[in-house]
Amino acid sequence: MGVRARVLLCWLQVLCAVVFGDVWKVEVESKMDALVSSCVVLPCTFKYPAQEQPSSRIRAMWHTKKKPEEFIYHNDPTKATENFKGRTKLIGSLGDLNCSLEIDGVRNHDNGPYCFRVELETSEIDKYSFVDNCVTIKMIEKASKPELLAETSVKEGQPVIFKCSVRHTCPSHQPTLSWSHPGTTIMSYKDIGHGNWEVESLLTFTPTKEDDHSSVTCTVKYHGSVEGEMQATHQITVKEQATLSHILIPAISGLGAALLVGLLCFFVVKRYKNRIAELQSRNDNGMWSRLSRMSRRFRSGEGSSGTGGREQGQVPKNF
Ligand SMILES: *[C@@H]1O[C@H](CO)[C@@H](O)[C@H](O)[C@H]1NC(C)=O
Repeated sequence: MGVRARVLLCWLQVLCAVVFGDVWKVEVESKMDALVSSCVVLPCTFKYPAQEQPSSRIRAMWHTKKKPEEFIYHNDPTKATENFKGRTKLIGSLGDLNCSLEIDGVRNHDNGPYCFRVELETSEIDKYSFVDNCVTIKMIEKASKPELLAETSVKEGQPVIFKCSVRHTCPSHQPTLSWSHPGTTIMSYKDIGHGNWEVESLLTFTPTKEDDHSSVTCTVKYHGSVEGEMQATHQITVKEQATLSHILIPAISGLGAALLVGLLCFFVVKRYKNRIAELQSRNDNGMWSRLSRMSRRFRSGEGSSGTGGREQGQVPKNF
């Protein structure tokens, strides 16, 4: 094979490696937060330019960037540095190219940076330290209080939902959230990316009058003896609900009053009608009949203009 051909082949190999990702590669979060005394999981995935190997044929370690021989994790536990012995655990499956590392009982000076190293037990051992992609940890000494979301004024008898949540970086030992008020709770654990997680608890209950001016508290319990604010409290004001009785009582009393007035009117009218009818019937044989007879006579006299006229005419003559 000529020199040219060899160079060409070499280039082809490089090209293939780049195109098919056939290289040493690691993906980590370069910056992570960690709560002192809790745990932190450093997400990590890797690739190597060899045939896929089972977990048993892959040796993994994490070391500090400053001193590659200072292992914070080693698959041979005796080789881990004293400071980290028993505190680090590979939680990813190497066969699945997952090199995620858990550091437990986080200490104030565990800042790193830490780098992943892999050794393959192939015919000739392939090794690689990913010193260009290391992880720095920012220590958080005091937890900030959980976030509590709720309506300030709630209505009596209407179910309310309170939401409490915390963010953390310790998914292997999730924090727990608890409530001071009884009700139904739903917990959820969400991966919100970049090694951050969110635990959320939803509390649902139906407020009563007794809940007015009381407070609802959400308490977080982290893995480890974490310091900081563990509680968030919310004062609630319960508005009296316009319940059925609140609507029905005024409605019924209004209706009752209207009915009473109506009945009263009815009886009064009825009574007067009776009175009028009575008067009318009495007058048929009394004043009314006389009057009507008179008017009948009067009208007939006028109508004939004979005798009536004379009668009328005669009256003044007699005076
Ligand atoms: C790696 O393993 C951890 C622990 O089992 C898991 O939470 C994470 O999702 C894995 N990462 C990937 C990319 O599969």
